[in-house]
Amino acid sequence: MLKNILRKNTPLPDPTSVLISGHGTGRISESYKAIRTNIMHLLKDSESKTILVTSPYANAGKTTTTANLAITFAQLGKKVLMIDADMRRPSLHRLFSVVSDQGLSNVLTGSDYATAIMPTKYENLFILPAGCVPKNPSELLLTPCFSKLLAKLSAEYDTIFIDAPPVDAVTDSVIISQKVTGTILVIRQNHTEKEALLRTINMLNSVNANLLGYVLNAVDYNKFSYRYGHYYGNYSDKYSSYYADSSEESSEK
Ligand SMILES: Nc1ncnc2c1ncn2[C@@H]1O[C@H](COP(=O)(O)OP(=O)(O)O)[C@@H](O)[C@H]1O
Ligand SMILES: [Mg+2]
Repeated sequence: MLKNILRKNTPLPDPTSVLISGHGTGRISESYKAIRTNIMHLLKDSESKTILVTSPYANAGKTTTTANLAITFAQLGKKVLMIDADMRRPSLHRLFSVVSDQGLSNVLTGSDYATAIMPTKYENLFILPAGCVPKNPSELLLTPCFSKLLAKLSAEYDTIFIDAPPVDAVTDSVIISQKVTGTILVIRQNHTEKEALLRTINMLNSVNANLLGYVLNAVDYNKFSYRYGHYYGNYSDKYSSYYADSSEESSEK
């Protein structure tokens, strides 16, 4: 009983606290800007710029990475859209404090996409939430409707980030990876196992996904900073970056 009362009265952590301000110059912002530079370089010759963000497991930081990268791109004055394609466990809308009752799942079953897309408090940054949790997310993503939607949105937005479920859990990310310009894998320190990562890379390679690189998330900066060069060197044609915690970023705001 006491436990329940305490839980009820304990405020939930503010989900928006993991978002960067968009104008910060601290370590976290700089890490996202470094990833932005790499993505822009890798996609400089591509007409459409749709980027899937996925990981082997849940809780690696896909949603956090999607949101902060999108903020970083929007900061350049680019028109940026985030799509929450994690229709089973949608969460992107919570970070941006918008409702998710109309979104991707509704659009893929006939609703108008323009009314489902919402602005955020960040200039140039828009969100298409996941919508009502559908019975058949994978099948919806396989329909021509999804490909057509991406084509239309690519004509309207400079960059599109797609947040998606983990590869090890369901097939959705593998389906999406075949329809986007590139895929980013989020790896979390002390969380992602090497075998799961290799399995994920194999699955993405088997469908000829364009794997752009990796984001190494939630690294203990003090332990790893001296190895940064080593990590970077390991991914010569890829990239890695990290951020340690959200406290530093909040001091930037
Ligand atoms: N680098 C980080 N530092 C602190 N908390 C983080 C970091 N990355 C993610 N989180 C937190 O971990 C949890 C899972 O992150 P999330 O982005 O939702 O993962 P996923 O979308 O891969 O399931 C969230 O509560 C998020 O706020
Ligand atoms: Mg998520």
